[in-house]
Amino acid sequence: MAHPDPRPSPSKPEDRRPSPASSPNQVQLEPFVHQVGGHFPMVCLDASIVCKPLNEREHRFYLSVPYMLRAIIPGFEGTMEIEASEDEDGYITLRGNPPPEYIQKQRRRNRISQIRRSDRIGGEAKDSTPAKDPPHYRLKRKESLEIEPALSHDDESELDESGLRRKSSSECSSQGPESSGTVCGTQEEAFCNPWALKCHRDHLKKLGILKSSQSEDPEGPAGREHTSSEDISTASSSSSAFVASKASKKTSRSNPQLYLLLENLVSRYRHPCVLDLKIGTRQYADDVSAAKKQRKIAKAENSTSSTLGLRLCGMQVYKAKNGRYVCHNKYFGRTLNNQGLKSTIEEFLINEETVRMDIVDRLLDKLERMRKIITSLESFRFYTSSLLITYDGYGLNKIDLRIIDFAHSTHKDFEDAVVHKGPDDGFLFGLNNFLGILAEIRKKAVI
Ligand SMILES: Nc1ncnc2c1ncn2[C@@H]1O[C@H](COP(=O)(O)OP(=O)(O)O)[C@@H](O)[C@H]1O
Ligand SMILES: [Mg+2]
Repeated sequence: MAHPDPRPSPSKPEDRRPSPASSPNQVQLEPFVHQVGGHFPMVCLDASIVCKPLNEREHRFYLSVPYMLRAIIPGFEGTMEIEASEDEDGYITLRGNPPPEYIQKQRRRNRISQIRRSDRIGGEAKDSTPAKDPPHYRLKRKESLEIEPALSHDDESELDESGLRRKSSSECSSQGPESSGTVCGTQEEAFCNPWALKCHRDHLKKLGILKSSQSEDPEGPAGREHTSSEDISTASSSSSAFVASKASKKTSRSNPQLYLLLENLVSRYRHPCVLDLKIGTRQYADDVSAAKKQRKIAKAENSTSSTLGLRLCGMQVYKAKNGRYVCHNKYFGRTLNNQGLKSTIEEFLINEETVRMDIVDRLLDKLERMRKIITSLESFRFYTSSLLITYDGYGLNKIDLRIIDFAHSTHKDFEDAVVHKGPDDGFLFGLNNFLGILAEIRKKAVI
Protein backbone atom coordinates (compact mmCIF):
# COMPACT_ATOMS: atom_id res chain seq x y z
CA MET A 1 0.00 0.00 0.00
CA ALA A 2 1.32 3.43 -0.87
CA HIS A 3 1.76 5.85 2.01
CA PRO A 4 2.47 9.54 1.91
CA ASP A 5 6.16 10.18 2.46
CA PRO A 6 6.67 10.35 6.21
CA ARG A 7 9.95 12.18 5.86
CA PRO A 8 9.09 15.89 5.87
CA SER A 9 9.88 17.48 9.18
CA PRO A 10 6.75 18.63 11.02
CA SER A 11 8.32 21.64 12.62
CA LYS A 12 9.51 23.29 9.42
CA PRO A 13 8.90 27.04 9.31
CA GLU A 14 6.53 26.80 6.31
CA ASP A 15 4.06 24.99 8.56
CA ARG A 16 4.12 27.83 11.04
CA ARG A 17 0.96 29.70 11.79
CA PRO A 18 1.01 33.17 13.35
CA SER A 19 1.76 33.38 17.04
CA PRO A 20 -1.31 32.37 19.08
CA ALA A 21 -1.51 35.85 20.54
CA SER A 22 -2.12 37.46 17.16
CA SER A 23 -5.10 35.50 15.82
CA PRO A 24 -8.83 36.12 16.11
CA ASN A 25 -9.39 32.34 16.21
CA GLN A 26 -7.41 31.92 19.38
CA VAL A 27 -8.86 29.43 21.86
CA GLN A 28 -8.15 28.55 25.46
CA LEU A 29 -7.09 25.01 26.41
CA GLU A 30 -7.43 22.98 29.59
CA PRO A 31 -5.38 20.36 31.39
CA PHE A 32 -6.42 16.80 30.47
CA VAL A 33 -7.33 15.15 33.77
CA HIS A 34 -7.63 11.52 32.61
CA GLN A 35 -3.97 11.05 31.67
CA VAL A 36 -2.78 7.84 33.34
CA GLY A 37 0.79 7.62 32.01
CA GLY A 38 3.37 9.21 29.73
CA HIS A 39 6.06 11.80 30.15
CA PHE A 40 4.51 15.13 29.30
CA PRO A 41 1.34 16.88 30.38
CA MET A 42 -1.46 16.57 27.83
CA VAL A 43 -4.03 19.33 27.35
CA CYS A 44 -7.53 19.51 25.82
CA LEU A 45 -8.46 21.67 22.85
CA ASP A 46 -12.11 20.77 23.42
CA ALA A 47 -14.00 17.77 24.75
CA SER A 48 -13.07 15.64 21.74
CA ILE A 49 -9.41 16.57 21.11
CA VAL A 50 -6.32 16.17 23.27
CA CYS A 51 -2.97 17.81 22.49
CA LYS A 52 0.31 15.99 22.96
CA PRO A 53 3.71 17.70 22.69
CA LEU A 54 4.95 17.04 19.17
CA ASN A 55 7.64 14.45 18.62
CA GLU A 56 8.88 14.46 15.02
CA ARG A 57 8.84 10.71 14.52
CA GLU A 58 5.37 10.40 15.97
CA HIS A 59 4.15 13.19 13.70
CA ARG A 60 5.66 11.47 10.69
CA PHE A 61 3.98 8.26 11.75
CA TYR A 62 0.54 9.90 11.87
CA LEU A 63 1.15 11.46 8.46
CA SER A 64 1.97 8.10 6.93
CA VAL A 65 -0.60 5.80 8.52
CA PRO A 66 -2.02 3.19 6.13
CA TYR A 67 -5.78 3.04 5.87
CA MET A 68 -6.09 -0.32 7.61
CA LEU A 69 -4.45 1.04 10.79
CA ARG A 70 -6.68 4.08 11.12
CA ALA A 71 -9.46 2.35 13.03
CA ILE A 72 -7.09 1.17 15.75
CA ILE A 73 -5.15 4.37 16.46
CA PRO A 74 -6.42 7.81 17.57
CA GLY A 75 -7.68 10.11 14.84
CA PHE A 76 -5.11 12.76 13.88
CA GLU A 77 -6.38 16.34 13.51
CA GLY A 78 -3.19 18.22 12.65
CA THR A 79 -0.78 20.29 14.70
CA MET A 80 -1.00 23.50 16.61
CA GLU A 81 1.17 25.88 18.57
CA ILE A 82 0.26 26.43 22.19
CA GLU A 83 1.62 29.02 24.55
CA ALA A 84 1.05 29.55 28.23
CA SER A 85 0.85 32.62 30.35
CA GLU A 86 0.61 33.05 34.06
CA ASP A 87 -1.37 35.92 35.50
CA GLU A 88 -0.58 37.73 38.72
CA ASP A 89 -2.89 35.43 40.71
CA GLY A 90 -1.00 32.34 39.59
CA TYR A 91 -3.56 31.11 37.05
CA ILE A 92 -1.85 29.52 34.08
CA THR A 93 -3.73 29.99 30.82
CA LEU A 94 -2.98 27.89 27.75
CA ARG A 95 -3.80 29.40 24.36
CA GLY A 96 -3.45 28.40 20.74
CA ASN A 97 -4.70 28.86 17.19
CA PRO A 98 -6.39 25.70 15.94
CA PRO A 99 -5.72 24.74 12.30
CA PRO A 100 -8.24 25.97 9.67
CA GLU A 101 -9.65 22.46 9.12
CA TYR A 102 -10.53 22.28 12.80
CA ILE A 103 -12.25 25.67 12.70
CA GLN A 104 -14.30 24.62 9.65
CA LYS A 105 -15.35 21.41 11.38
CA GLN A 106 -16.34 23.35 14.50
CA ARG A 107 -18.46 25.73 12.42
CA ARG A 108 -20.20 22.77 10.78
CA ARG A 109 -20.82 21.19 14.19
CA ASN A 110 -22.22 24.45 15.58
CA ARG A 111 -24.55 24.82 12.61
CA ILE A 112 -25.85 21.27 13.08
CA SER A 113 -26.46 21.75 16.80
CA GLN A 114 -28.20 25.04 16.07
CA ILE A 115 -30.52 23.30 13.62
CA ARG A 116 -31.18 20.56 16.19
CA ARG A 117 -31.94 23.15 18.84
CA SER A 118 -34.36 25.04 16.62
CA ASP A 119 -36.04 21.72 15.66
CA ARG A 120 -36.60 21.08 19.33
CA ILE A 121 -37.99 24.53 19.97
CA GLY A 122 -40.29 24.29 16.94
CA GLY A 123 -41.68 20.82 17.60
CA GLU A 124 -41.72 18.06 20.18
CA ALA A 125 -38.31 17.56 21.78
CA LYS A 126 -37.18 14.03 20.96
CA ASP A 127 -34.77 13.93 23.88
CA SER A 128 -35.65 16.07 26.85
CA THR A 129 -32.38 15.52 28.74
CA PRO A 130 -30.03 18.44 28.14
CA ALA A 131 -26.54 17.43 27.02
CA LYS A 132 -24.30 17.63 30.09
CA ASP A 133 -21.46 20.05 29.71
CA PRO A 134 -18.30 18.24 30.82
CA PRO A 135 -16.48 19.66 33.83
CA HIS A 136 -13.82 22.28 33.17
CA TYR A 137 -10.40 22.63 34.77
CA ARG A 138 -7.60 25.12 35.02
CA LEU A 139 -4.07 25.27 36.32
CA LYS A 140 -3.11 27.35 39.30
CA ARG A 141 0.25 27.79 40.96
CA LYS A 142 -0.25 28.00 44.72
CA GLU A 143 2.23 26.43 47.16
CA SER A 144 2.48 23.77 44.51
CA LEU A 145 0.70 23.41 41.18
CA GLU A 146 -2.98 22.51 41.37
CA ILE A 147 -5.63 21.61 38.85
CA GLU A 148 -8.86 23.26 39.86
CA PRO A 149 -12.38 22.75 38.62
CA ALA A 150 -13.39 25.85 36.70
CA LEU A 151 -16.64 27.15 35.37
CA SER A 152 -18.17 25.84 32.20
CA HIS A 153 -18.73 28.57 29.68
CA ASP A 154 -22.48 28.41 30.32
CA ASP A 155 -22.04 28.78 34.02
CA GLU A 156 -20.40 32.10 34.54
CA SER A 157 -23.17 33.44 36.71
CA GLU A 158 -22.09 30.96 39.38
CA LEU A 159 -18.70 32.59 39.86
CA ASP A 160 -17.71 33.41 43.40
CA GLU A 161 -15.38 36.32 44.02
CA SER A 162 -12.28 34.22 43.34
CA GLY A 163 -13.65 33.08 39.99
CA LEU A 164 -14.23 29.49 41.04
CA ARG A 165 -17.33 27.45 41.60
CA ARG A 166 -15.59 25.35 44.21
CA LYS A 167 -12.24 25.96 45.77
CA SER A 168 -11.13 22.37 46.22
CA SER A 169 -8.29 21.20 44.07
CA SER A 170 -8.24 17.64 42.76
CA GLU A 171 -9.12 15.47 45.70
CA CYS A 172 -6.51 12.79 45.39
CA SER A 173 -5.27 11.08 48.49
CA SER A 174 -2.29 8.80 48.20
CA GLN A 175 -2.30 5.65 50.31
CA GLY A 176 1.23 6.35 51.48
CA PRO A 177 4.50 7.62 50.04
CA GLU A 178 5.66 4.20 48.89
CA SER A 179 2.34 3.34 47.33
CA SER A 180 1.44 3.83 43.72
CA GLY A 181 -2.14 2.80 44.22
CA THR A 182 -4.26 5.87 44.80
CA VAL A 183 -7.90 6.42 45.54
CA CYS A 184 -9.14 9.65 44.03
CA GLY A 185 -11.93 12.14 43.94
CA THR A 186 -15.23 11.94 45.74
CA GLN A 187 -16.96 14.22 43.27
CA GLU A 188 -16.60 13.47 39.60
CA GLU A 189 -16.08 17.15 38.79
CA ALA A 190 -13.06 17.32 41.05
CA PHE A 191 -11.32 14.21 39.74
CA CYS A 192 -7.85 14.51 38.34
CA ASN A 193 -5.59 11.53 37.82
CA PRO A 194 -2.53 12.05 40.07
CA TRP A 195 -0.27 11.22 37.14
CA ALA A 196 -1.70 14.10 35.08
CA LEU A 197 -1.02 16.46 37.97
CA LYS A 198 2.47 15.04 38.42
CA CYS A 199 3.26 15.58 34.72
CA HIS A 200 2.22 19.23 34.94
CA ARG A 201 4.20 19.73 38.16
CA ASP A 202 7.31 18.01 36.83
CA HIS A 203 7.16 20.09 33.72
CA LEU A 204 7.08 23.34 35.64
CA LYS A 205 9.75 22.06 37.99
CA LYS A 206 11.99 21.31 35.04
CA LEU A 207 11.51 24.86 33.83
CA GLY A 208 12.34 26.23 37.27
CA ILE A 209 8.82 27.48 37.96
CA LEU A 210 8.28 25.14 40.89
CA LYS A 211 10.95 24.32 43.45
CA SER A 212 11.47 20.63 44.24
CA SER A 213 9.82 20.99 47.63
CA GLN A 214 6.76 22.53 45.98
CA SER A 215 6.29 19.72 43.53
CA GLU A 216 6.13 16.79 45.94
CA ASP A 217 5.20 13.75 43.92
CA PRO A 218 1.76 12.52 44.94
CA GLU A 219 3.05 9.00 44.30
CA GLY A 220 6.26 9.08 46.31
CA PRO A 221 9.93 9.58 45.46
CA ALA A 222 9.69 8.09 42.00
CA GLY A 223 8.91 11.50 40.57
CA ARG A 224 12.54 12.52 40.49
CA GLU A 225 13.40 9.51 38.42
CA HIS A 226 10.64 10.44 36.04
CA THR A 227 11.85 14.00 35.62
CA SER A 228 15.37 12.95 34.82
CA SER A 229 14.19 10.15 32.57
CA GLU A 230 16.05 10.04 29.30
CA ASP A 231 12.80 9.56 27.41
CA ILE A 232 11.94 13.18 28.03
CA SER A 233 14.66 14.25 25.65
CA THR A 234 12.82 12.60 22.75
CA ALA A 235 10.37 15.46 22.68
CA SER A 236 12.72 18.10 23.95
CA SER A 237 12.15 20.25 20.88
CA SER A 238 8.63 20.84 22.06
CA SER A 239 8.78 20.15 25.73
CA SER A 240 9.76 23.53 27.07
CA ALA A 241 6.11 24.40 27.02
CA PHE A 242 4.05 26.42 29.38
CA VAL A 243 5.46 29.07 31.60
CA ALA A 244 8.92 30.15 30.65
CA SER A 245 9.67 32.74 33.26
CA LYS A 246 10.51 32.44 36.93
CA ALA A 247 7.78 32.68 39.49
CA SER A 248 6.97 36.28 40.07
CA LYS A 249 3.95 38.44 40.67
CA LYS A 250 4.11 39.69 37.09
CA THR A 251 2.20 38.24 34.17
CA SER A 252 4.47 35.97 32.14
CA ARG A 253 4.24 34.17 28.82
CA SER A 254 5.99 31.15 27.28
CA ASN A 255 7.24 30.61 23.75
CA PRO A 256 4.64 28.83 21.61
CA GLN A 257 5.30 25.10 21.29
CA LEU A 258 4.04 22.60 18.73
CA TYR A 259 1.50 19.93 19.69
CA LEU A 260 -0.19 17.04 17.90
CA LEU A 261 -4.00 17.18 17.94
CA LEU A 262 -5.40 13.73 18.63
CA GLU A 263 -8.86 12.28 19.05
CA ASN A 264 -9.69 12.21 22.75
CA LEU A 265 -10.35 8.53 23.38
CA VAL A 266 -12.24 9.05 26.63
CA SER A 267 -14.51 11.93 25.66
CA ARG A 268 -17.56 9.66 25.28
CA TYR A 269 -17.45 8.43 28.85
CA ARG A 270 -18.85 9.88 32.04
CA HIS A 271 -16.60 7.72 34.23
CA PRO A 272 -13.56 6.92 32.08
CA CYS A 273 -11.71 3.73 32.98
CA VAL A 274 -8.29 3.76 31.31
CA LEU A 275 -5.54 1.15 31.05
CA ASP A 276 -2.20 1.94 29.40
CA LEU A 277 -0.34 -1.31 28.66
CA LYS A 278 3.05 -0.94 27.04
CA ILE A 279 3.17 -3.70 24.46
CA GLY A 280 6.06 -5.68 22.99
CA THR A 281 9.23 -7.20 24.33
CA ARG A 282 11.60 -4.55 23.00
CA GLN A 283 11.46 -0.93 24.14
CA TYR A 284 14.15 0.82 22.11
CA ALA A 285 14.54 2.06 18.55
CA ASP A 286 17.30 0.93 16.18
CA ASP A 287 19.30 4.16 16.40
CA VAL A 288 19.53 4.27 20.19
CA SER A 289 22.88 4.54 22.03
CA ALA A 290 24.44 1.34 23.45
CA ALA A 291 23.98 2.60 27.00
CA LYS A 292 20.30 3.37 26.54
CA LYS A 293 19.75 0.06 24.81
CA GLN A 294 21.25 -1.75 27.82
CA ARG A 295 19.02 0.18 30.22
CA LYS A 296 15.90 -0.60 28.19
CA ILE A 297 16.83 -4.29 27.98
CA ALA A 298 17.35 -4.40 31.75
CA LYS A 299 14.02 -2.68 32.37
CA ALA A 300 12.24 -5.18 30.14
CA GLU A 301 14.01 -8.11 31.80
CA ASN A 302 13.01 -6.92 35.26
CA SER A 303 9.36 -6.57 34.38
CA THR A 304 6.50 -8.33 32.65
CA SER A 305 7.66 -6.86 29.31
CA SER A 306 10.01 -9.79 28.84
CA THR A 307 7.69 -12.53 30.11
CA LEU A 308 4.36 -11.33 28.70
CA GLY A 309 5.21 -8.57 26.22
CA LEU A 310 2.98 -6.34 28.37
CA ARG A 311 3.73 -3.82 31.12
CA LEU A 312 1.33 -1.64 33.04
CA CYS A 313 2.15 2.04 32.47
CA GLY A 314 -0.92 3.56 34.09
CA MET A 315 -4.49 2.82 35.03
CA GLN A 316 -7.62 4.34 36.50
CA VAL A 317 -10.79 2.43 37.23
CA TYR A 318 -14.07 3.79 38.54
CA LYS A 319 -15.50 2.07 41.60
CA ALA A 320 -19.25 2.64 41.65
CA LYS A 321 -19.62 1.66 45.31
CA ASN A 322 -17.88 4.75 46.63
CA GLY A 323 -17.83 6.90 43.49
CA ARG A 324 -14.01 6.96 43.45
CA TYR A 325 -11.26 6.03 41.05
CA VAL A 326 -8.49 3.60 41.90
CA CYS A 327 -5.30 4.67 40.12
CA HIS A 328 -1.97 2.96 39.48
CA ASN A 329 1.12 4.38 37.84
CA LYS A 330 4.06 2.98 35.89
CA TYR A 331 6.22 2.49 39.00
CA PHE A 332 3.58 0.16 40.36
CA GLY A 333 3.54 -1.54 36.94
CA ARG A 334 7.27 -2.22 37.14
CA THR A 335 6.89 -4.06 40.45
CA LEU A 336 4.36 -6.55 39.09
CA ASN A 337 5.10 -10.16 38.24
CA ASN A 338 2.92 -12.08 35.78
CA GLN A 339 0.31 -12.94 38.39
CA GLY A 340 0.29 -9.37 39.69
CA LEU A 341 -0.33 -7.99 36.21
CA LYS A 342 -3.17 -10.46 35.63
CA SER A 343 -4.81 -9.48 38.94
CA THR A 344 -4.44 -5.79 38.11
CA ILE A 345 -6.07 -6.28 34.70
CA GLU A 346 -8.88 -8.09 36.49
CA GLU A 347 -9.19 -5.18 38.92
CA PHE A 348 -9.44 -2.85 35.93
CA LEU A 349 -12.51 -4.76 34.77
CA ILE A 350 -14.44 -4.51 38.05
CA ASN A 351 -16.61 -1.46 38.77
CA GLU A 352 -18.92 -3.04 41.30
CA GLU A 353 -18.68 -6.57 42.68
CA THR A 354 -17.97 -8.60 39.56
CA VAL A 355 -15.98 -8.51 36.34
CA ARG A 356 -17.70 -6.57 33.52
CA MET A 357 -18.29 -9.49 31.18
CA ASP A 358 -19.83 -7.20 28.53
CA ILE A 359 -16.51 -5.34 28.43
CA VAL A 360 -14.39 -8.52 28.45
CA ASP A 361 -16.31 -10.01 25.51
CA ARG A 362 -16.09 -6.90 23.38
CA LEU A 363 -12.44 -6.41 24.25
CA LEU A 364 -11.70 -9.98 23.15
CA ASP A 365 -13.38 -9.25 19.78
CA LYS A 366 -11.44 -6.05 19.32
CA LEU A 367 -8.13 -7.73 20.19
CA GLU A 368 -8.81 -10.46 17.62
CA ARG A 369 -9.45 -7.82 15.00
CA MET A 370 -6.29 -5.95 15.97
CA ARG A 371 -4.29 -9.19 15.77
CA LYS A 372 -5.41 -9.71 12.16
CA ILE A 373 -4.39 -6.18 11.20
CA ILE A 374 -0.97 -6.29 12.89
CA THR A 375 -0.23 -9.74 11.44
CA SER A 376 -0.74 -8.36 7.95
CA LEU A 377 1.49 -5.30 8.45
CA GLU A 378 4.82 -5.78 6.74
CA SER A 379 7.85 -3.92 8.21
CA PHE A 380 6.02 -2.07 11.01
CA ARG A 381 7.61 -2.01 14.46
CA PHE A 382 5.79 -0.40 17.38
CA TYR A 383 8.66 -0.04 19.84
CA THR A 384 7.45 1.56 23.13
CA SER A 385 3.83 1.84 21.92
CA SER A 386 0.94 1.06 24.25
CA LEU A 387 -2.50 -0.43 24.05
CA LEU A 388 -4.94 2.10 25.47
CA ILE A 389 -8.05 0.33 26.71
CA THR A 390 -10.91 2.59 27.73
CA TYR A 391 -14.50 2.02 28.80
CA ASP A 392 -17.23 3.70 30.77
CA GLY A 393 -17.22 2.70 34.43
CA TYR A 394 -20.89 3.35 35.00
CA GLY A 395 -23.93 3.50 32.79
CA LEU A 396 -22.67 3.24 29.24
CA ASN A 397 -21.81 -0.03 27.57
CA LYS A 398 -18.94 1.47 25.57
CA ILE A 399 -15.39 0.26 25.16
CA ASP A 400 -12.46 1.11 22.94
CA LEU A 401 -9.06 -0.39 22.15
CA ARG A 402 -6.34 1.60 20.34
CA ILE A 403 -2.62 1.68 19.91
CA ILE A 404 -0.99 4.95 21.07
CA ASP A 405 2.49 6.46 21.30
CA PHE A 406 4.51 6.20 18.08
CA ALA A 407 7.61 8.15 19.09
CA HIS A 408 9.82 5.10 18.39
CA SER A 409 7.84 3.38 15.65
CA THR A 410 9.18 2.60 12.21
CA HIS A 411 8.15 1.08 8.88
CA LYS A 412 9.71 0.83 5.46
CA ASP A 413 8.53 4.26 4.25
CA PHE A 414 10.57 5.93 6.99
CA GLU A 415 13.65 4.76 5.07
CA ASP A 416 15.49 4.24 8.33
CA ALA A 417 18.90 2.53 8.28
CA VAL A 418 17.26 -0.69 9.46
CA VAL A 419 14.16 -1.88 7.60
CA HIS A 420 12.41 -4.78 9.33
CA LYS A 421 10.82 -7.77 7.64
CA GLY A 422 7.42 -9.25 8.41
CA PRO A 423 5.04 -8.25 11.20
CA ASP A 424 5.98 -7.07 14.70
CA ASP A 425 6.41 -10.37 16.57
CA GLY A 426 7.05 -8.72 19.94
CA PHE A 427 3.77 -6.84 19.61
CA LEU A 428 1.91 -10.00 18.61
CA PHE A 429 3.44 -11.86 21.57
CA GLY A 430 1.96 -9.23 23.91
CA LEU A 431 -1.37 -9.29 22.11
CA ASN A 432 -1.63 -13.08 22.34
CA ASN A 433 -0.81 -13.00 26.04
CA PHE A 434 -3.43 -10.31 26.62
CA LEU A 435 -6.00 -12.48 24.85
CA GLY A 436 -4.95 -15.40 27.09
CA ILE A 437 -5.23 -13.31 30.28
CA LEU A 438 -8.71 -12.11 29.36
CA ALA A 439 -9.81 -15.64 28.49
CA GLU A 440 -8.60 -16.77 31.93
CA ILE A 441 -10.43 -13.90 33.66
CA ARG A 442 -13.56 -14.76 31.70
CA LYS A 443 -13.35 -18.44 32.59
CA LYS A 444 -12.89 -17.66 36.28
CA ALA A 445 -15.84 -15.27 36.26
CA VAL A 446 -18.32 -17.70 34.73
CA ILE A 447 -17.50 -20.57 37.11
N1 LIG B 1 -5.64 10.05 22.14
C1 LIG B 1 -5.70 9.98 23.47
N2 LIG B 1 -6.89 10.08 24.11
C2 LIG B 1 -6.98 10.01 25.46
N3 LIG B 1 -5.90 9.84 26.26
C3 LIG B 1 -4.69 9.73 25.67
C4 LIG B 1 -4.53 9.78 24.27
N4 LIG B 1 -3.22 9.64 23.97
C5 LIG B 1 -2.60 9.51 25.15
N5 LIG B 1 -3.47 9.56 26.18
C6 LIG B 1 -3.16 9.53 27.63
O1 LIG B 1 -1.89 10.09 27.80
C7 LIG B 1 -0.96 9.15 28.34
C8 LIG B 1 0.39 9.30 27.68
O2 LIG B 1 0.28 9.14 26.28
P1 LIG B 1 1.51 8.66 25.40
O3 LIG B 1 1.13 8.89 23.98
O4 LIG B 1 1.88 7.28 25.77
O5 LIG B 1 2.63 9.68 25.84
P2 LIG B 1 4.24 9.47 26.03
O6 LIG B 1 4.82 9.53 24.66
O7 LIG B 1 4.63 10.62 26.89
O8 LIG B 1 4.44 8.12 26.71
C9 LIG B 1 -1.63 7.78 28.15
O9 LIG B 1 -1.27 6.91 29.20
C10 LIG B 1 -3.10 8.13 28.18
O10 LIG B 1 -3.58 8.17 29.51
MG1 LIG C 1 3.59 6.23 26.37
